[in-house]
Amino acid sequence: MYKLVIKGGVPLSGTINIAGSKNAALPILFASILADGPLKLNNTPHLSDVSTTLRLLMDMGAEFILESDNSLFINSAKLTKLTAEYNLVKTMRASILTLGPMLAKYGEAKVSLPGGCAIGTRPVNLHLKALEDLGASIEVKGGYIYAKAKQLIGANVHFEQVSVTATENILMAATLAQGTTTIHNAAQEPEIVDLANCLINMGANISGAGTAVINIKGVKTLSGITHSVCPDRIEAGTYLIAAAITGGKITLKHTRYQSMRAIIDKLIEAGAEIECDKSSITLDMKGQRPKAVNIRTSAYPNFPTDMQAQFCALNIIADGQASITETIFENRFMHIPELSRMGADLTLEGNTVIAKGVKSLTGANLMATDLRASASLVLAGLAAQGTTTIERVYHLDRGYETIEEKLKLLGANIERIQD
Ligand code: EPZ
Repeated sequence: MYKLVIKGGVPLSGTINIAGSKNAALPILFASILADGPLKLNNTPHLSDVSTTLRLLMDMGAEFILESDNSLFINSAKLTKLTAEYNLVKTMRASILTLGPMLAKYGEAKVSLPGGCAIGTRPVNLHLKALEDLGASIEVKGGYIYAKAKQLIGANVHFEQVSVTATENILMAATLAQGTTTIHNAAQEPEIVDLANCLINMGANISGAGTAVINIKGVKTLSGITHSVCPDRIEAGTYLIAAAITGGKITLKHTRYQSMRAIIDKLIEAGAEIECDKSSITLDMKGQRPKAVNIRTSAYPNFPTDMQAQFCALNIIADGQASITETIFENRFMHIPELSRMGADLTLEGNTVIAKGVKSLTGANLMATDLRASASLVLAGLAAQGTTTIERVYHLDRGYETIEEKLKLLGANIERIQD
């Protein structure tokens, strides 16, 4: 196992490139099951969740080649096994996204229930009910989902709750269904638009992706094509906070600010100066202490839950008091006890934490628990006086490409060492 050792107090400066989006790359990799030929993906991020996805697809009979120019050829056109095994699914919940594509292409699927994770029970009832709406018969036994459908039939699907991957599962399944499917109360995340653009490029007939109502007219086959994964807005937001929390100035390349408005608005409210152009974002904190900003997470285009822990880190050293309310997941405050050990003044009341900004934090030995909570510990360590160590950094590697290398490029004093 590895840990990160950070000597805080250095205002970050410099320029880094933002990678492709984890939460776009994963559904797009699973969409390769639908194609009758290989997909060529550019800008795929080097993350452990991507490796897990490739291992899972390979276990089912897919093949892939990673080219020297970082492009990835994935051929899942002829699966030899229609089972997503527990030993792989348990490490990454997004494996549920094998269900819709397998059902649509082969008429059957056996997928391990993903189980919960640190941030919540993470049920999949919305996925299963919507697939039944499309005519699938679903049985859950022995920890596995058994799904069958001679032919999926287009239908009206109403999600009682907005769900990103449930929307993606149905979007993919409906591309090969007979007739038209309309998804109501669909998630509107940019990653869904990227998936839809890839599917349309493959030959799917989709309209309305990125809005609450998506229409999909089923087609017979989808082809292998080339697609470039959209930028990771959460990775970008995390590094912008790294600059804000240390009073620095950085530029991010390969970004798309249009998908980050809620994040950027909050950073401006915290006192940052931000300049955006077509594919880069510059944040300048001018050495100032951030102002406290109230946060309330909800579905896109509102403030993203995946940035809640990072803004918590910013608020603990901010000037003033702020409330941070998490409305999406039931247990996404695992970073609170760890941040408190650095001297943060945080009070948890139900799904809201009250942060009273302190002038400085003290480095400490910390334990990572989940992906975005771990990111908030790194951010606090960058701002703290003295040394912070963060154990179990495998959580970070799920969603951040070589985080210590990118932070070193920005001037941070950070090392990854063996435990
Ligand atoms: C996606 O998870 C993202 N993961 C998450 O990012 C993100 O936090 C989340 O959407 C919310 O934006 C990927 O895209 C791979 P949901 P997902 O279904 O789809 C409840 C990260 O850090 N729900 O939108 O699993 C659920 O419990 C990860 O990159 C049901 O009740 O989340 C939650 O309360 C973490 N039944 C709410 O809906 C269901 O069948 C929204 O979850 C499905 C979801």
